[in-house]
Amino acid sequence: MRFVGVLLAVVLAALLPGSQVASGSLDRGYNGLAATPPMGWNDYNAYGLDVTDTLIRETADAMVSSGLRDAGYVYVNIDDGWQATTRDSAGNLRADPARFPSGIAAVADYVHARGLKLGIYSDAGLKTCGGLPGSLGHETADARLFAGWGIDYVKYDNCYAGPGCDQIACPDGTAAPAQDRYARMRDALVATGRPIVFSMSSWGTEDVARWAAGYGNLWRTTGDIQPTYASMLSIFQQTVGLSRYAGPYGWNDPDMLQIGNGMSATEDRTELTLWSMLAAPLIIGTDLTDATPATLALLTNAAVIAVDQDPLGRAATVASASTGLYVLTRPLANGDVAVALFNSTGTATTITADTPSGTLTDLWTGAVSATTGTVRATVPAHEVVLYRVG
Ligand code: GLA
Repeated sequence: MRFVGVLLAVVLAALLPGSQVASGSLDRGYNGLAATPPMGWNDYNAYGLDVTDTLIRETADAMVSSGLRDAGYVYVNIDDGWQATTRDSAGNLRADPARFPSGIAAVADYVHARGLKLGIYSDAGLKTCGGLPGSLGHETADARLFAGWGIDYVKYDNCYAGPGCDQIACPDGTAAPAQDRYARMRDALVATGRPIVFSMSSWGTEDVARWAAGYGNLWRTTGDIQPTYASMLSIFQQTVGLSRYAGPYGWNDPDMLQIGNGMSATEDRTELTLWSMLAAPLIIGTDLTDATPATLALLTNAAVIAVDQDPLGRAATVASASTGLYVLTRPLANGDVAVALFNSTGTATTITADTPSGTLTDLWTGAVSATTGTVRATVPAHEVVLYRVG
């Protein structure tokens, strides 16, 4: 109903003579989507710009057969690189004919038939970060095209635009703040009438977390993640202080998972734990046509995913952080509390944390014990121990 209401308001505003579609903030939850953080997969971390129809179909199949879909990972997201180098003679975006010979709608049908949803990528500037046509000035047409293809999720990047736009000469509109350029695509997506998650990829610039909740369903908090512990740690540290801005329908996005892409098994586990404590979107970034059983087992840990997807939607805050030893706590909808002891240093160390009294479940080992208010654990280097206390 909320979605229909907003849709009506946008359509009416567009029809009234002389009126403009609102470009300011809407309420958090304006499109009723992403009540919990989106879960899925995106090709960019594993393939860069080298995305194809075959890759998307094979990945969709793998998401079903591996159990990832049933664990909650439902979005199959095409990143940059799907587009032809120019728009067609009518000004429409089009898929690269070699990479997507059947077009995007056919891929959407394939993905939908498997109980999954399809995401696509564009940019709030003249070009995408990969140098392909951007959507600035084409928002209404591009949103309609995406909706017509059956798209369920749009990741919207921020290259070739913005006040700092100096990569190329900046024509009218290009230098507008991200807030204005993202509002244009948000309104265009809403006006299509199709439920489409809006993922804002502006890398934490312009203090996006402070204002983003009425603009999109998730917003990047940092630059691009790399498949290294140092990158993952830095992004965690830049994001954890923004917890107050995350909540149902609008989430801090510390970028896609690098699990399976070269970090150690401990570091892979740590990323899923930290991202779940942050109430972050869980967008897998590894090659699922070739993922190891260990990677798949890690990604499908239902107890950890339940923390990420907790319907209360409160991201963790830092209870203590001395010399690289973090205690994070996150209240959960049923009254339980998630407590994470994270040793970010290179040496095994004992970490002590206050907890409520009750039953303590280690969500990675499954071990159950009781706590009377304090928990101590020896935590290996780069490891997180994650408890649910209730
Ligand atoms: C930017 C984004 C990445 C990816 C690339 C594609 O760097 O932050 O996530 O989408 O563009 O070109």
